[in-house]
Amino acid sequence: MPRILVTGGAGYVGSHTVIELINYKFEVVAVDNMVNAIMGGKGKPESLARVEKLTGGVVDFEQVDILNENELEQVFANKGPFDCVIHFAALKAVGESCKLPLRYYRNNVIGSINLLEAMSRHNCKNIVFSSSATVYGPPQYLPIDEKHPIGSCTNPYGKTKFMIEEIMHDMCLADPEWKAIMLRYFNPVGSHPSGEIGEDPCGIPNNLMPYISQVAVGKRPCLQVYGNDYETKDGTGVRDYIHVMDLAEGHVAAVRKSLDKDFQGWTAYNLGTGQGNSVLEVVSAYEKASEKNVPYEFMPRRGGDIASSFADCSRAEKELNWKAKKSIHDMCADAWRWQSNNPNGFQIP
Ligand code: UFG
Repeated sequence: MPRILVTGGAGYVGSHTVIELINYKFEVVAVDNMVNAIMGGKGKPESLARVEKLTGGVVDFEQVDILNENELEQVFANKGPFDCVIHFAALKAVGESCKLPLRYYRNNVIGSINLLEAMSRHNCKNIVFSSSATVYGPPQYLPIDEKHPIGSCTNPYGKTKFMIEEIMHDMCLADPEWKAIMLRYFNPVGSHPSGEIGEDPCGIPNNLMPYISQVAVGKRPCLQVYGNDYETKDGTGVRDYIHVMDLAEGHVAAVRKSLDKDFQGWTAYNLGTGQGNSVLEVVSAYEKASEKNVPYEFMPRRGGDIASSFADCSRAEKELNWKAKKSIHDMCADAWRWQSNNPNGFQIP
């Protein structure tokens, strides 16, 4: 069975992807520095302990910071060889990245270089990268396909994703044995349908769905809707929300593609549903799924936000044989199951 190293495996998208990898019978080694995750019993992140319970599989876990070259080297030496690496480990808060740009460049860019160097030393030249639609910057047209120009990102976080994509592109140009697949996510939301694992943001959530969840469960009084004067169906921002389990399946499809001997070089895929939903549509879908009220108030626009963003995912459908299946109702129902069963996330109160 192929053996996969997953960096950032204890995180939100990482842990859901590990479930799908195990379901497809891949062997998984996960590393994480635990900066945004909670340790459970037996030295394993609580998210991955629950993944093991849900799947009946085993996740070999090491607490490793990709900034630490020695720790990374040990993982490759002791746990390898790996057929492919899925690279999630990164900081991802847009606002924080504007305040602490060097932290973001060091962690995300230098961490990725350390990983690529360790991979080279161990002759593992196969990587799937957790990128973001943020690399496109403000959309020049909609829906956004992979031919849309990239690089005019408006914040350091987005720029790190763009830089890492470019570094991987250059590696593939320099050495034809390298294979690198960039997965550009739109807005991942929801949780595993069991409600056992999900998104567990530290502090005040930056993103819409976890904020709505905390309002619905009574942890916060009211959602602030940033802007109701955009040129959209109801004036609020429109995004392409994708269920995290669909996203996880997209990673498995990408890993399988990267293992295909006919695949070569660098390529990128959008992962979204192709549908745009406004903030108010998400609020209403969440209210329906949770049977809770989500009070909201309109606020001025948030700096750096755009009116609308949604994907053209036809390349992933054609080349990865992958298509998002879950609806906005599924996303809200599963987010609510996770939130209502775990009001404090992975933290046992
Ligand atoms: N929004 C609110 N209130 C909130 C939070 C968000 O009204 O409390 C609105 C935003 O203004 C936007 C929409 O909800 O219209 C979605 O906002 P998110 O913060 O959930 O998501 P973004 O589209 O802003 O950001 C996401 C990812 C980033 C990534 C970006 C571009 O979270 O990592 O897409 O790809 F950089």
